[in-house]
Amino acid sequence: MEKSENITWQATKVDKQQRQTRFGHKSAVLWFTGLSGSGKSTIAVELEKQLFERNINSYVLDGDNVRFGLNRNLGFSAEDRTENIRRIGEVSKLFVDAGTITLTAFISPYRADRDHVREILGDEEFIEVFVDTPIEVCEDRDVKHLYEKARRGEIKGFTGIDAPYETPNNPEITIDTSTQSLEASVQQIIDYLTSHGYIC
Ligand code: PPS
Repeated sequence: MEKSENITWQATKVDKQQRQTRFGHKSAVLWFTGLSGSGKSTIAVELEKQLFERNINSYVLDGDNVRFGLNRNLGFSAEDRTENIRRIGEVSKLFVDAGTITLTAFISPYRADRDHVREILGDEEFIEVFVDTPIEVCEDRDVKHLYEKARRGEIKGFTGIDAPYETPNNPEITIDTSTQSLEASVQQIIDYLTSHGYIC
């Protein structure tokens, strides 16, 4: 890939702090990570709705959706997944700068890739949400019939079957959707945001 040359960072006249003051809440990324079918998107879209109802700027970036556009040239090799997460990390940083509570729902299977995003955002603006639903439960749900296809060998390199998923070491929030309801999971995250001063 060619590198950009002769570029200069353009400063802006409105900064993140001013936006956060105007909006009345802090901005950060809630980085959902977990297996396919673990419930990342389901929780993220419900949470976005509830934050929106409280007049909080929030936005979901979802793996499947982003792969229709921005990342349509990426597949599921290790390299492509790393590039997928790198781009989303950079996009999330822009959203956070814009004052938004950004909800990202990507498998993001590699610890190093998630840690890289944490590095570019900083600990305060990166909240890792591990959707720790056991693979048996994800496979049992199999809403998109992808596990079925992976087991039949029709999809190669499927996360949890023949491609790795590296669990987070110290996620800020852990959710197991096999034991927790959707309402309880969403409430758990809202409680975290409130008790840590992101929203009131
Ligand atoms: S990653 O690993 O973070 O780059 O993946 P992500 O961008 O989140 O995309 C995951 C969705 O792509 C579908 N899909 C696959 N998932 C895992 N492995 C393979 N090989 C694969 N092929 C297609 C699947 O619908 C994932 O969506 P979710 O919502 O996680 O079920």
